[in-house]
Amino acid sequence: MLKRISALVLAGLTAMSVAACGSGSGSGSAGSDGADGSGGADGSITMGFSQVGAESGWRTANTKSVQESAKEAGITLKFSDAQQKQENQIKAIRSFVQQRVDVIAFSPVVESGWDTVLKEAQNAKIPVILTDRAVDSKDTTLYKTFLGSDFVEEGKKAGQWLVEEYKDTTETVNIVELQGTTGSAPANDRKAGFAEVIGADPKFKIIASQTGDFTRAKGKEVMEAFLKSNPDIDVLYAHNDDMGLGAIEAIEGAGKTPGQDIKIITVDAVKDGMQALADGKINFIVECSPLLGPQLMDLAKKVVKGEQVPARVVTEETTFTQEQAKQVLSTRQY
Ligand code: AHR
Repeated sequence: MLKRISALVLAGLTAMSVAACGSGSGSGSAGSDGADGSGGADGSITMGFSQVGAESGWRTANTKSVQESAKEAGITLKFSDAQQKQENQIKAIRSFVQQRVDVIAFSPVVESGWDTVLKEAQNAKIPVILTDRAVDSKDTTLYKTFLGSDFVEEGKKAGQWLVEEYKDTTETVNIVELQGTTGSAPANDRKAGFAEVIGADPKFKIIASQTGDFTRAKGKEVMEAFLKSNPDIDVLYAHNDDMGLGAIEAIEGAGKTPGQDIKIITVDAVKDGMQALADGKINFIVECSPLLGPQLMDLAKKVVKGEQVPARVVTEETTFTQEQAKQVLSTRQY
């Protein structure tokens, strides 16, 4: 009997401690749609953040930016690394809802399959911010705002450089493409933007296109396979620097000179990529900024207070040639 009573007391205490996690504890007090609309009773804010993983230099810089900015903004961050798995992100979001955080932010690993869990957050009156990557949910009330790059535009910029670079050529230009994670917004959009621009001229031919999952190791592996089955590659378009850097190893391993025998375009502009650009191993980089932390924290404060925020906040970005990379390399933050 005594044992059963102790077990009941313990269960009660555990339930109380889960409910007390996060400053938005107490019914209806969390989130901008909640009754108080200001986070915890003392105005403090707890954010649950579900990160994609640590697949690239970009991702590492993005995690650092989010963690440092939360600290600076006085926001308590509950950080969860999904290791590139959607199921882990869904679990993390459910756990944030259970803990009654004040706001949830996440970078969705893929675009589809979020409606159910986002509905759960909405029913719990916890506002959600999409950061870096989009979801394809038809119901846009499931999240308050989307902060991040225009990936289609990034793909277009890559294509425009290529069109300009080969403007005097009438011969076929054989392109291989290393795509990002299958089903992710940057992979879908960078592919689409690039294809749209080069599609205007039939001399540009994508002869192979495969995912390298945004990692250096996979970029190298897939590029090795491309080189074996395609002796005549003119251009590599890699959806991020890391895959491009892996591919450079494969190209050098095959006895070719990256940047000369095979022209290389990548996206991101992280330090390692910029170094390779300055060294002439990459020819052009489209910037994708990972420094989303400060804007994310500002948006979080606003949505928790119930203030209006823009539905879409697009990150400002540029592009880099070899000369430009040499100029900015020493001051590059990531
Ligand atoms: O979503 C942004 C992309 O994800 C970056 O371009 C890539 O490096 C990262 O893994």
